[in-house]
Amino acid sequence: MITIIVAVDESNLIGTSNSANGMAWHNKEDFQHFKQTTLHHTLVMGRKTYEAIGRPLPQRHTIVITRGEMDDDRVEVRHSLDEVLDEFKNSDEDLMICGGASIYKQALGVANRMLLSRIPGKHDGDTYFPDIKQSGLRLSEKKPFDTFTLEIYER
Ligand SMILES: NC(=O)c1ccc[n+]([C@@H]2O[C@H](COP(=O)([O-])OP(=O)(O)OC[C@H]3O[C@@H](n4cnc5c(N)ncnc54)[C@H](OP(=O)(O)O)[C@@H]3O)[C@@H](O)[C@H]2O)c1
Repeated sequence: MITIIVAVDESNLIGTSNSANGMAWHNKEDFQHFKQTTLHHTLVMGRKTYEAIGRPLPQRHTIVITRGEMDDDRVEVRHSLDEVLDEFKNSDEDLMICGGASIYKQALGVANRMLLSRIPGKHDGDTYFPDIKQSGLRLSEKKPFDTFTLEIYER
């Protein structure tokens, strides 16, 4: 199963270059949801997102995608998303696609489901989630949390 996991605001903003961790808001409950959902799974992320987080997240296996090289033996490095998808195509393991925008764009057409946290309000930032219209993913369920709504999309 390939799952996109993302938090967006009402403008589909996902990030900003004006904060240390790249996030345009601080939502503790959504961080908790992200942690619980991704714990013990394999995370795939772009090099910029990995550098914004600054370290591998504990108890998760991290694959970083870059066209270059990375001198960081705490993560696995791959040179395209296709390479990762190919490696996992016969595996039962869940792959969690964790961004950023460029990786989401490449994963939208192949993900089996998407867990989208809809954060209320419009925030300042510069990175937006790509258009999902052509992705084939359809909203199947909305789960209200106290401080955001989880939108579940399926293919
Ligand atoms: N709200 C959320 O849920 C969420 C989640 C994740 C990220 N974000 C935000 O998203 C922003 C970062 O997104 P972004 O699009 O700028 O960066 P990104 O997707 O995290 O990383 C982009 C980099 O990934 C590598 N890459 C991408 N596609 C590749 C391919 N096909 N083959 C090889 N390498 C590839 C390249 O690395 P090299 O340049 O090293 O070659 C590229 O520069 C940040 O603001 C972050 O905070 C938000």
